Amino acid sequence: MTAIDPTEPINLALLPCTAEVSSDGSLTIGGVDLIALAKEFGTPLFVYDEEHLRLRCRQAVTSWGEGVAYGTKAFLCKEMAKLAYQEGMWLDVATGGELYVALAAGVPADHIKMHGNNKSLEELQMALHPGVGKAGVGRIVVDSFDEIRRLEELLKAPGTLRTDQPQPVMLRVTPGIDAHTHSHVMTGQEDTKFGFSIASGAAVQAVEKLMDIKDLNLVGIHVHIGSQILELEAFVKTIEALADFFIHLDLGELCIGGGLGVAYLNSEIPLVSDMSTWADALKQTCKKVGISDKVKLTAEPGRAIVAQAAVTLYKVGTIKKLGQPRTYVAVDGGMSDNPRPILYGSEYEAFLPRAVLSDRRERARVVGKHCESGDVLVHDGYLPQDIEVGDILAIPVTGAYGYSMASNYNKQPKAAVVFVKDKQARLVLKRESYEDLLRLEQ
Ligand SMILES: Cc1ncc(COP(=O)(O)O)c(C=O)c1O
Repeated sequence: MTAIDPTEPINLALLPCTAEVSSDGSLTIGGVDLIALAKEFGTPLFVYDEEHLRLRCRQAVTSWGEGVAYGTKAFLCKEMAKLAYQEGMWLDVATGGELYVALAAGVPADHIKMHGNNKSLEELQMALHPGVGKAGVGRIVVDSFDEIRRLEELLKAPGTLRTDQPQPVMLRVTPGIDAHTHSHVMTGQEDTKFGFSIASGAAVQAVEKLMDIKDLNLVGIHVHIGSQILELEAFVKTIEALADFFIHLDLGELCIGGGLGVAYLNSEIPLVSDMSTWADALKQTCKKVGISDKVKLTAEPGRAIVAQAAVTLYKVGTIKKLGQPRTYVAVDGGMSDNPRPILYGSEYEAFLPRAVLSDRRERARVVGKHCESGDVLVHDGYLPQDIEVGDILAIPVTGAYGYSMASNYNKQPKAAVVFVKDKQARLVLKRESYEDLLRLEQ
């Protein structure tokens, strides 16, 4: 791979699909000027390109077919849930809270897949009976023997199922594959809290148990090997590793989970695969290993749907020019709206939306306002040399695992979220106020 000069302008391929550079060098997304947005809604501000979100959902449905689910943990609010459902996706939820938001958005329960490695009795009850007169969720993805026991216990109570149909379930297995990604988001190896091991025989035992429960219908197998995976090889190996086990069971569905990675840096752009390349590679692998083409092969992308759809806007408050080795640029957010750098050592680019095409010759670390040295947004980046206090600074590719992992550390109110489309911006999540910070106080 050719080396990329880090002082070059931001690569526009990292930006949402409707991003455009105006004649004065400033950036619009969805036809809306970013500096004007920051003025109107304040900062930090998550700006999502609605067209980009819809396009990615449609690509997922075209590539995988009916049943492909959006991994809501990447970013969830009612508008996002509605949008993914409108574009034909199911929703993958991992807690009672995510299920609650998806249902509140009006997503029908039969288009929801319930995950979780430690689902409580209450969460399973919600999944089996998600509201008055409603049948259970589309799929419960069973993750442990304790969960099977809890399901059995619930199903003993007459009337738990609101239909005469058994509840569809899938079984999450671990194939013993190490995906090349950060250890915190690697889940397919044997040493993990998720799923049932195929190698140890636990998966076969779990299948037998589920088949004995008449109110449950085991429809398929689920596997998720990790997140931000930039090579298709690990997915291919996963299908190869579970082929014998799966074929023997003669079930109708196989879900490969999420995990398709995205480019965060100019230098990463050549590494990334798109949704259809991912789906095609895995369909071909299924064919090669003898999995029938009647089997519904499906997936649960989260990051690949939302990450590049958003940029976060911040206001520059302090600039410390240390000379060597770099300048420190402090903004009005940080690890509370984007904990990925402190959690995973994730890297980002930064740029000034007023001058998108400018060279970035100032070696800079973009830091937040929290009381931690690790509160860094861009560890070793470059910004235009004329950056000044009061500038609006943008970090791209912040649509996944930013807002959804946000915290109130240092009692920082959560940022606002807007969707932009056709020259209009609409607020989908209000900025938290200081009064909101006292909401739970007794
Ligand atoms: C079971 C499951 N499915 C889907 C996803 C979405 O993954 P990603 O955002 O990497 O596509 C996750 C994320 O961890 C997951 O645990």
